[in-house]
Amino acid sequence: MTYTKTVPQSVEWKNTHISLLDQTKLPLETVFIDLFTIEDVWDSITALKVRGAPAIGITAAYGLALSAQSYKSLSIAEFKEKLNQDRDYLASSRPTAVNLIWALNRLVASIECAKTVNEAKTTLIHEAIQIQVEDEEVCRQIGEHALSLFKDGYKLLTICNAGSIATARFGTALAPFHLAAQRNVNLKVFASETRPILQGARLTTWELLQSGVDVTLITDNMAAHTIAVKGIDAIIVGADRITANGDTANKIGTYNLALLAKAFGIPFYVAAPKSTFDISLQNGSEIPIEERNPDEVTHISGVRVAPEGVQVYNPAFDVTPNDLITAIITEAGILQGDLGLEIRKIFGE
Ligand code: MRU
Repeated sequence: MTYTKTVPQSVEWKNTHISLLDQTKLPLETVFIDLFTIEDVWDSITALKVRGAPAIGITAAYGLALSAQSYKSLSIAEFKEKLNQDRDYLASSRPTAVNLIWALNRLVASIECAKTVNEAKTTLIHEAIQIQVEDEEVCRQIGEHALSLFKDGYKLLTICNAGSIATARFGTALAPFHLAAQRNVNLKVFASETRPILQGARLTTWELLQSGVDVTLITDNMAAHTIAVKGIDAIIVGADRITANGDTANKIGTYNLALLAKAFGIPFYVAAPKSTFDISLQNGSEIPIEERNPDEVTHISGVRVAPEGVQVYNPAFDVTPNDLITAIITEAGILQGDLGLEIRKIFGE
C-alpha cells in the first residue's frame, strides 16, 4: 500500500451540515458521512464514529450550532432556553472527556450578549469554527513541546489514538510524530492495539503510516516485553480529563503503561490541551468513567470470541495518578514537578 505524507482530518463544517470521517470503518474503508441533525451528532459521538476528546468537542460544537439554525419563530430568551436543552442533550452523549462540555459551554457563553436570534445563530457558527481553528494551533504547539523532549532515534510507546483524527489536526500524543516526519527526524513508534475496540491497531497505525512515521503495532499484553527488549525510551499518551492535582483519565490500559514506565524507570508523558483540564475536580476519583456495551469485549470486529452469558466489565477509561506522570505537555508548556501547582499557574490561579 502506498501512503502519501498527509496528516488526516476527521471533521469539517460544510455550512448546511457536518462532514465526518466515520472512524468505525477505518482502516478498511475511508468513508465521510454527512450529519444534518443534532440526533445524527449525538449518535455519531455515542457510536464512536467520532472519538477522541478534542474531536468530540469540535463535533458537538458544530452540532449545537447546526441545531440552533433550525430554531424558528423564537424570542431571544426562548432561543437561549432551547440552546441550553440541546447543550444538555449533546453533553449526555459521552461522560468522560471534558472537552465535550467545555466546547458546548463555550458556545452557550458566546451568545450571552446576543440581542437577536439572527445574531446568535451567526455567532454560534463562528464560535464552533473558532474552536476547531484554535485546536489545530494548540495541537501544533503541543507537538513542538513534545518533540523538544525526544532525541533523533528515540523509540516511543503509545496507546489508543490521541492523533490527528482525534483532534482538529496533528493530535496531542501523536503530534510530535507528525512534526518529526515532516522534518525527517527519526522517531520509532510502538502502537498498542488498545482492546476492546482497537483504536491503536485500526486508527493510530493508519494515521501514522499516512504521515510517513515509522510505526510498529503490538498487542496490549506485549508492552512490558517490548519495553524490555526493544529499549523503549518513553511512553506518551493523550488524556480525556485532567483534574486539579494532575490525575489523568485516558483510554483503559493507560494506567498499566504508567506503572510499567515507573518499573522500567522511563518517562511517562501525558499530552493534552488546556481544554482537557477540569480544575473543578480535585482528583481523579471524581472523574466519571464511561462503561460501554459488553459486546465490545465479547466480540472482536463483530465476531464473538467469548461464551454467551459470561459476565463482562467494560470501563472505557482508567485514571493514572499524578505521581506516575513525569510531565504533562500542554500548549502552555511542559508541566512537571508539583503538577497541582503548575496547573494552577497555567490557569492563572
Ligand atoms: O474512547 P476514545 O477513543 O474516545 O478514547 C480516546 C482517548 O482515550 C484519547 O487518548 C483521548 O481522548 C485524547 S485524544 C487527543
